[in-house]
Amino acid sequence: MITKIEQLTAEIGNLRANNAEEAEQLRIKYLGRKGVMNDLMEEFRTVAPEQKRELGQKINALKQLITAKINELKDAVATEANSNDSVDLTRTPYPIQLGTRHPLTIVKNEIVDIFSRLGFTLAEGPEVEDDWHVYSSMNFADDHPARDMQDTFFVEARPDIILRSHTSSVQARVMETQQPPIRVICPGRVYRNEAISARAHCFFHQVEGLYIDKNVSFTDLKQVLLLFAQEMFGSETKIRLRPSYFPFTEPSAEMDISCHLCGGKGCSFCKHTGWVEILGCGMVDPAVLEANGIDSTVYTGYAFGMGIERITNLKYQVKDLRMFSENDVRFLDEFKSAN
Ligand code: DAH
Repeated sequence: MITKIEQLTAEIGNLRANNAEEAEQLRIKYLGRKGVMNDLMEEFRTVAPEQKRELGQKINALKQLITAKINELKDAVATEANSNDSVDLTRTPYPIQLGTRHPLTIVKNEIVDIFSRLGFTLAEGPEVEDDWHVYSSMNFADDHPARDMQDTFFVEARPDIILRSHTSSVQARVMETQQPPIRVICPGRVYRNEAISARAHCFFHQVEGLYIDKNVSFTDLKQVLLLFAQEMFGSETKIRLRPSYFPFTEPSAEMDISCHLCGGKGCSFCKHTGWVEILGCGMVDPAVLEANGIDSTVYTGYAFGMGIERITNLKYQVKDLRMFSENDVRFLDEFKSAN
């Protein structure tokens, strides 16, 4: 009987179970009513009294060993099963932080959206441009001060290649590939050699508009800009046009809107004038049409250009231009609801 107990002790150490059912089978085999331990107890009854003490202790130890082993196996398969079941692979690992659109993108999309409802289509051009598209084709005289190093970034060793300083260059890009009717809206980034401060940056964004067809008049321009201003800043908004000068338009004007903060009464935002400037515009100079292959005796057109930062500042009162390029998430988060 002693040998049997020793054999069983060795056997128990090697027991394995792959799942809960196998562990239960082992329990039945060793500890069940008709199991190995029971048989052992039956045999124990027939043992001579002087051996009872020693054998009894051994049988007890064996029983404890088997019980501990089977519990251990049951625990092991249970945690394994648990870990498989409790991993929900479809669950998100942590709450996802929703991003926001950049305020300049929000405003650009809004501008493009308003004009696309008026039949304008989107056009784009390169940021690294040549002098022709940025200046010469736009009727800038060779000695025009805007070509000065102060404003323009030149590409070293290629003085005719520059970073565009306005999106008016896209007008030329469109005119050289399309004949009227042309009705485009051109958003994009522009560069100027300016010291960075709260009020100026070496890059910013503009939207250019161009409309060329037969019989396009200044009245058309004015009406489209009024509609734009009212869509963008509210139906109460008024506009006024002041005579101005741009090489590529004749006549040229700058447009103000009634200050949307004080309703035109005068406040510190509009410097107590009741008006804030938002864009430049005018009738496309016939010299620009001719330079770009469009017959100025048949067609007329208007153009306008506005700064997206400027419009965004008017809408959201961003005090410092640098905020737009610093990517501070606390600033960007403020535009969550505007998306
Ligand atoms: N290109 C001008 C600028 O950068 C803005 C502008 C003014 C565009 C009048 C136009 C326009 O198309 O007609 O300041």
